[in-house]
Amino acid sequence: MTLIPSVRGMRDVPPADTGEWRRAESAAAACFALYGYGEIRTPIVERAELFRRQLGEHSDIVQKEMYAFVDLSGEELCLRPEATVPTVRAAAAANLHRGGIARLWYGGPMFRRERPQKGRRRQFWQLGVEAIGGGAPDPEIDAEQITIAARLWKMLKVENRVQLFINNLGAPAERAAYRRKLSEYFRRRESDLDAASRARISDNPMRILDSKDAAAIAVAKDAPLLREMLGAESRRHLERVQFALDAAGIPFCETPSLVRGLDYYNLTVFEWAEKDDDRRQNAICGGGRYDGLSAQIGGPPLHGCGFALGLDRLVALMQNDNAVADPPDCVLLAAGANADYCIRAAEMLRDGGISVLRQDGGGNLARRLKKADASRAPLAIIIGEDEERRGEVSVKRMQDGVQHSPPLAEAAATAAKLIAESANKSGQNK
Ligand code: HAM
Repeated sequence: MTLIPSVRGMRDVPPADTGEWRRAESAAAACFALYGYGEIRTPIVERAELFRRQLGEHSDIVQKEMYAFVDLSGEELCLRPEATVPTVRAAAAANLHRGGIARLWYGGPMFRRERPQKGRRRQFWQLGVEAIGGGAPDPEIDAEQITIAARLWKMLKVENRVQLFINNLGAPAERAAYRRKLSEYFRRRESDLDAASRARISDNPMRILDSKDAAAIAVAKDAPLLREMLGAESRRHLERVQFALDAAGIPFCETPSLVRGLDYYNLTVFEWAEKDDDRRQNAICGGGRYDGLSAQIGGPPLHGCGFALGLDRLVALMQNDNAVADPPDCVLLAAGANADYCIRAAEMLRDGGISVLRQDGGGNLARRLKKADASRAPLAIIIGEDEERRGEVSVKRMQDGVQHSPPLAEAAATAAKLIAESANKSGQNK
């Protein structure tokens, strides 16, 4: 019988990778907290109607990617494809904006039935921030969030690998007028377009601007620009965001073709993509303003702005090719002592905060030490008959061979001291 495989587009994350995932998650949590964002957790299963209109009846997600199903109760539910709409729902339901703007962040798996390929999965993880409420669309919030992302890239040392694209989609009325103009333009050039773009001419012409198809790119090059149809207020908003980004020293590329794949946006939209990925095939992070969303789902008229980053893609960017699991503090080698003594020693070390990996098997001690070294643990704990008789353990530092044999009760303190000394030494050598 063959092993039952995982679901297409959904994967296991092995221990060699989870360390980087956790590093990204903790850096993000710390970074979001620096700007006063508090964590919110919303359900993975939501009512399908929550997303349909908000993401766009003609969006790819709603048309073909939602994991929607009818529950035994007869309700149509779905696995959440994103978390902005649920976060706005949660904020409105609990009145989280009553003190002004609710600054929220979240992390977790999202589900879209896309065609799986590199960087594109059917279950993927997002970390995101949303600022919901306030009296007017404040461009400084947009800039604050872009600054949060920029700080996170620095914390994770990927700031030189990403670049920022921004655009302004205007107010809904400006965009509607633009959409009409664009449909007319593409209709005139219909025969030059690929089939997928042709199908979008009436319902979703702005997505043609974002197409990756060569024919569509050529036609889109001469399309009218939304910027020319923006009113004074929208233009001022864009200028103020750009001004704030200049003040924060964050370079950006103004990109008229950046329209985003979800319908709820207005005014500012932005994406961060890998530096050599000018077509933004696999954006690391995307977001923007959604001032009409709360009212659209039956909530009060709340302003909003946010972004979400794809954790799978961010980790791929952070990872070097030889990622290995986080090493333990020490590897324990039982070398002739009784099992119960070794178990007691390991538990006492763990009580003292030292992580212990028990080495399986036996054999030649030199070979076993070599294997312990390969695990990158800084220490080996060796317990032979002699150590057991004296009520001790031997703690050996792999880096320089320094070895101590403290009594069991002092083993954790000795281990911690040896680790701290070598960390100090490597710090001085830098
Ligand atoms: P989104 O652009 O659909 O926006 O997704 C945000 C990020 O999630 C993308 O930039 C990408 O890194 C990651 N992502 C999306 N789909 C996949 C996939 N199939 N596989 C791997 N990673 C993926 C949103 O979801 C909005 N809710 C963002 C937002 C927050 N706007 C305002 N607030």
